[in-house]
Amino acid sequence: MVKKKIEEEKFVQPELNIGMIGHVDHGKTSLVERLSGKWTDTHSEEVKRGITIRLGYADFSTYNCKEHGYNAKKQCNECKFQRKISLIDAPGHETLMATMLSGASIMDGALLLIAANEKCPQPQTKEHLTALEIIGVKQIIIVQNKIDLVTKEEALANYKQIKEFVKGTIAENALIIPISAQHNVNIDTLIKTIEDIIKTPKRDEIKDPLFFIARSFDINKPGTDIEDLKGGVLGGALKQGILKLNQEIEMRPGLEKEFQGRVTWEPIFAVIENLMSGGESVKELHPGGSAGILTKLDPRLIKADSLTGNLVGLKGKLPNVFNEFMLKQHLLKRVVGAKDELVVEPIKKGEILMLNVNSAATVGTVVELKKDLIHVKLKVPVCCNLTDRITISRRIGTRWRLIGYAEIIK
Ligand code: GTP
Ligand code: MG
Repeated sequence: MVKKKIEEEKFVQPELNIGMIGHVDHGKTSLVERLSGKWTDTHSEEVKRGITIRLGYADFSTYNCKEHGYNAKKQCNECKFQRKISLIDAPGHETLMATMLSGASIMDGALLLIAANEKCPQPQTKEHLTALEIIGVKQIIIVQNKIDLVTKEEALANYKQIKEFVKGTIAENALIIPISAQHNVNIDTLIKTIEDIIKTPKRDEIKDPLFFIARSFDINKPGTDIEDLKGGVLGGALKQGILKLNQEIEMRPGLEKEFQGRVTWEPIFAVIENLMSGGESVKELHPGGSAGILTKLDPRLIKADSLTGNLVGLKGKLPNVFNEFMLKQHLLKRVVGAKDELVVEPIKKGEILMLNVNSAATVGTVVELKKDLIHVKLKVPVCCNLTDRITISRRIGTRWRLIGYAEIIK
């Protein structure tokens, strides 16, 4: 019998971002590969150490048909296209919380991976879930991975530990889907659950565009002729509004300038040369999954993620840049990311904190304290709205640990 050619789907932009979160080695990158076919740990240090260090990005489409069920690959012409989804692969290592937090700022939903062959919860299982709780990512599915490594009884015991752990958290009623990312077990059920549970949020396309930069890079290969050099690329997600080719954009806080010992930050301006979404060039970028903005900016200026945390908008339409904040603090009772759950001590005057807002991570010194208000002077300014939620981390030993969140007063 002649096999019928599988027709290609027409191009669509990815419509939402789903994050992969959870403790180191629990299988986040493996699941990204299982769904998208792409191994996102490509950085030399990641290959060497076998862990994710930077945020990874990959798109996949979901299909469904009577014969093949839910699938991440079109199996026949009856397979009906459902959605195109961007995956954001966060690192699980305890030293990389800042990276996880900047990824979480663009997640619309998340898969919390928990390895069935380890006791639950592990420290970053707790810390990542707490981060989602604080940032307000509510659409969560728990993925119990590596079930090929345990017996049925062990899997059930681990399931009970998970249920106990999520009691009282935002994931209390989250579905728990047992899978093996490596052995392709139960992936169809997981895709069906993603389709049922994680909805594409309603986006406001009328508002001024706001694009969160999660990475910035130089796409030129070493040795490229000057005439062939491409400008710098901004990677991230459009939260609201629409971006179009040839529009003049602004990035804030921009770049650090030093003049006569005084440091200032100046916005960067550029024209949109090209917009990339779902692996293709588009004329208009709509809010949704991961995307890239190509500019004529000097690639040296923006390489190696130097613009991560900047906001992009139309010229003159961005929110304010803050050099200092008055914050209302809300501290957790316990430090969740460490093996021993220490009590969170009150914030002290002179203390240095790490603050994450949107995709930005900055460090600030507490210069004044008044009841639950803290006045913090920032080392690197941030561009954000007054209504944006801030996470607070404190250095404990050699690590930054999530200790609470704050609202911006002014
Ligand atoms: P970090 O990004 O560093 O936090 O790790 P990760 O969560 O991305 O884990 P990764 O996907 O890199 O997998 C860690 C190890 O677990 C690798 O050796 C994988 O091959 C293995 N692994 C992942 N999924 C499974 C699974 O379902 N079964 C088994 N047996 N091994 C798995
Ligand atoms: Mg990984």
